[in-house]
Amino acid sequence: MKGLGALVGLIILGVVGLVGYVNHKVGKTYDVPLPNIQRATSPEALARGEMIYHSICAECHAPAGETQAMGAPLLDYPPELGTFHSANITSDPVAGVGNMKDEEIARMIIYSINREGKARLMPAFYGMSDEDVAAVIGYMRSDRPEFAPSPKKAPPSEPAFGGKAVMALVAGIRSEPRASVKAPPKGPSVEYGKYLAVGVYDCVMCHTVGFGSSDTKLKDPGLFAGGFEFDLKAYGGQGFMYSPNITPHETQGIGKWNLEQFKLSLTQGVTPDGYILRKPMPRYRYLDDVEIAAMFAYLKGVPAVATPKVAHEAVPRPKADKAADPEKLFSSLGCSYCHGPNGQFRDRLKQAMGKQPEDVAKWIRNPESFKPGTQMPTFATLLDETQALDLAKWVQAKNGTP
Ligand code: HEC
Ligand code: HEC
Ligand code: HEC
Repeated sequence: MKGLGALVGLIILGVVGLVGYVNHKVGKTYDVPLPNIQRATSPEALARGEMIYHSICAECHAPAGETQAMGAPLLDYPPELGTFHSANITSDPVAGVGNMKDEEIARMIIYSINREGKARLMPAFYGMSDEDVAAVIGYMRSDRPEFAPSPKKAPPSEPAFGGKAVMALVAGIRSEPRASVKAPPKGPSVEYGKYLAVGVYDCVMCHTVGFGSSDTKLKDPGLFAGGFEFDLKAYGGQGFMYSPNITPHETQGIGKWNLEQFKLSLTQGVTPDGYILRKPMPRYRYLDDVEIAAMFAYLKGVPAVATPKVAHEAVPRPKADKAADPEKLFSSLGCSYCHGPNGQFRDRLKQAMGKQPEDVAKWIRNPESFKPGTQMPTFATLLDETQALDLAKWVQAKNGTP
């Protein structure tokens, strides 16, 4: 009995110790030195900053259907971890980052340590080069409409104990000051591809299971083998989906893909088999051909491994069928995912009412040309003009509420 009592006592001590440790790690102030990184202002740097901002930061910082970076709820984080909201990073001096020093923004991007020295649950871009960090800050400071001041205060994130434990024990808090980082020379090389896929676009985060940092995931035998779970509830749907295997595995991965197919899936969100890639897979419309070739070369060289076993049956992926009528296309192309009865953007279809169907058809094929930065995918490669026109007329006949 005495032994058991001691054991229980030890366990209680252990749990109390762990809780204390986690709360301490997350609550404490980190005095990580401010990196010596200031905004870049050359046109090339701004173009680079725009590409990085729209491929990564906008996914979290612009609310659904908005382009302004006023902060948004983060729906991908499981509710057990708490509620998370990204910050208002517009240039508003009070609600936004107008008063933040460039160096403080750089520290936030690299370490996820905010201006008060507190660790936040934003991915730390610890491997991003000084030059790329400077480019993003330059873009944020360039008077673009995305950063026009918004006085709306973003609600703070409220991590539950689970979320704090993930930060403290699993993802890890990056507080080791890093030396300045230089990217490998830009070119279609494995080295540059690794820099992009790990240090910049963090493909590792979603395409490898678990909540670890990119560094731990790089050592995971399931690196890029997919299986990370996403609850479709976050997007108004039902059931689960899993990130796919993007190792060179012949049947489960992208072993048989060619560069052109890889490019189409990243920039247009369509796979060689005609599947439409849903959120949260970002649409990398801004990537250039060298970046795509480099990441392709890198991914083709990682070990080919099988996809891990997943907990639930995945809901079927939406697939395009050229011969289908508008109603079928609306669901097979994934329009219903955003605009259907439970979709996040149901109300936006109303904007098409009263317009010329030809104009709506043009929007459907190339929304980006009307509204840069829109979250609606580009369908130009999936729909010809006639199909787009049929869809436009069908949406209008349904009064915008199919
Ligand atoms: C996965 C979602 C996510 C991504 C991607 C992301 N952020 Fe954040 N960001 C957050 C969260 C969460 C916070 C912290 C909010 C809080 O304090 O509760 C934050 C905070 C910030 C802050 C601090 C603002 C302040 O007032 O202290 C800055 C600056 C920032 N992000 C910039 C960026 C930039 C630049 C990028 C792209 C390189 C980026 N973020 C990518 C989620 C994200
Ligand atoms: C925020 C999470 C996230 C990030 C970051 C991400 N992906 Fe994905 N990716 C997904 C999900 C989820 C899917 C599956 C979508 C679906 O089934 O509709 C996917 C699908 C894919 C596919 C299609 C594979 C197939 O077999 O159909 C490829 C290729 C891909 N991603 C490559 C990348 C690359 C390269 C990067 C980095 C540049 C990246 N992804 C970053 C979540 C992500
Ligand atoms: C990932 C989400 C998403 C998907 C998928 C999507 N849309 Fe949209 N759609 C939007 C958003 C967001 C808007 C509003 C534009 C904005 O504010 O950025 C929009 C706007 C529209 C509009 C109004 C255009 C106007 O004239 O203002 C039409 C019509 C439309 N979508 C049709 C479609 C069709 C048809 C499909 C499938 C082929 C589709 N959408 C797929 C997100 C999506």
